[in-house]
Amino acid sequence: MAVDLLLGLQWGDEGKGKIVDVLTKNYDIIARFQGGPNAGHTLEFDGIKHVLHTIPSGIFHKNAMNVVGNGVVIDPVIFRKELDALKQFNLDIKSKLVISRKAHLILPTHRLLDAASETAKGKAKIGSTLKGIGPTYMDKTGRNGMRIGDLELDDWKEKYRALADKHEAMIDYYNVDIEYDLAELENEFFASVEELKNLDFIDSEEYLYQAQKSGKKILAEGAQGSLLDIDFGTYPFVTSSNTTAAGACTGLGVAPNQIGEVLGIFKAYTTRVGSGPFPTELFDDDGETMGRVGNEFGATTGRPRRCGWLDLIALKYAVQVNGVTELMMMKADVLSGFETLKICTAYNYKGQKITHLPYNIEAENVTPIYSEMKGWKEDLTKMSKPEEFPSALQDYIDFLEKELEVPIKIVSVGPDRTQTIHR
Ligand code: IMP
Repeated sequence: MAVDLLLGLQWGDEGKGKIVDVLTKNYDIIARFQGGPNAGHTLEFDGIKHVLHTIPSGIFHKNAMNVVGNGVVIDPVIFRKELDALKQFNLDIKSKLVISRKAHLILPTHRLLDAASETAKGKAKIGSTLKGIGPTYMDKTGRNGMRIGDLELDDWKEKYRALADKHEAMIDYYNVDIEYDLAELENEFFASVEELKNLDFIDSEEYLYQAQKSGKKILAEGAQGSLLDIDFGTYPFVTSSNTTAAGACTGLGVAPNQIGEVLGIFKAYTTRVGSGPFPTELFDDDGETMGRVGNEFGATTGRPRRCGWLDLIALKYAVQVNGVTELMMMKADVLSGFETLKICTAYNYKGQKITHLPYNIEAENVTPIYSEMKGWKEDLTKMSKPEEFPSALQDYIDFLEKELEVPIKIVSVGPDRTQTIHR
């Protein structure tokens, strides 16, 4: 039985939480494979809005099992807050959520190191969510990290101490002004670890292998987006994990030949939070309208998101590196009311017209070349079937499908679960 993937194709915040929530009824297991609490997956149903950071978006469904895979980095403090926020829903969390022993732990000093590193970078800062993601993955690849499985050992606190002491020396090295009370942070951390230990830690690759063998349907839930991938994103303004399809294999221990459908999500326009190049970014009223109507504020940090037209060059690249088989277009409703819509179909790259994503897409090298399409005025939020779509929206969809050579199977017309149109 194949494992399907669900991936964001832009710079994150495409609406993965909502779509996983919509699709969960078709799956037995939802598994997160990379990233950590830098993610903010927003779900809306029955008039409730809920944001998940580390816990997979299948948690609200009765029959879905949720796995936090080995590729994820976990901050026990944030995890505990997430668990607390779920208490109001009376879910039997322990029977619905398991954690890989091989997932790495975010220590309080990882968060401090993130802050020190960003402060030291000054204007060149990444715009990190400051959740300690980069330093934790650095310790993972540097072979110094602490894993969930370490918490089952008697001497884990000694290992913790050695690593935290090293981090403190590194924070000093940055020589920046960061105030913190480590003893207080550690008390919170140790208390949260004890809570975390109430959940089951498992060998998730074995669990998923057996689940596949017994015919269970698995959905791997990505976090962030392809253009934030550590290898294929707009480096160095990226996150520290592989957000693209291959990350699901390493982040869950699923073999490449077991991957089934690759479901790619994109917004009908583009947003980015944090620093880094963004060729189609708008600084005018159109960008302001997208941000306001689309409520474009980071789910984790609350920062306003930068907004711009759809970048088809970047989107094609993401479809290509991920092997996307089905597309989902989110927030189509936000584009209602624009007289004309623009889609970037080529770049002017150092004076030449190109249609692929070059090594460097900084503004000094790249200017977008747009195709224009007629907009639509109709409010889409109450629509329930594709036959109701205005013809201009249908044209927009047809154009994208032709260019991307992948069908758009879902069009989302609002944040609620019910505002999802299947084609
Ligand atoms: P970090 O992963 O927190 O270090 O952040 C690195 C970059 O990725 C920054 O530009 C963040 O704004 C961005 N980023 C990280 N997580 C998300 C997300 O879930 N949505 C959108 N951007 C994100």
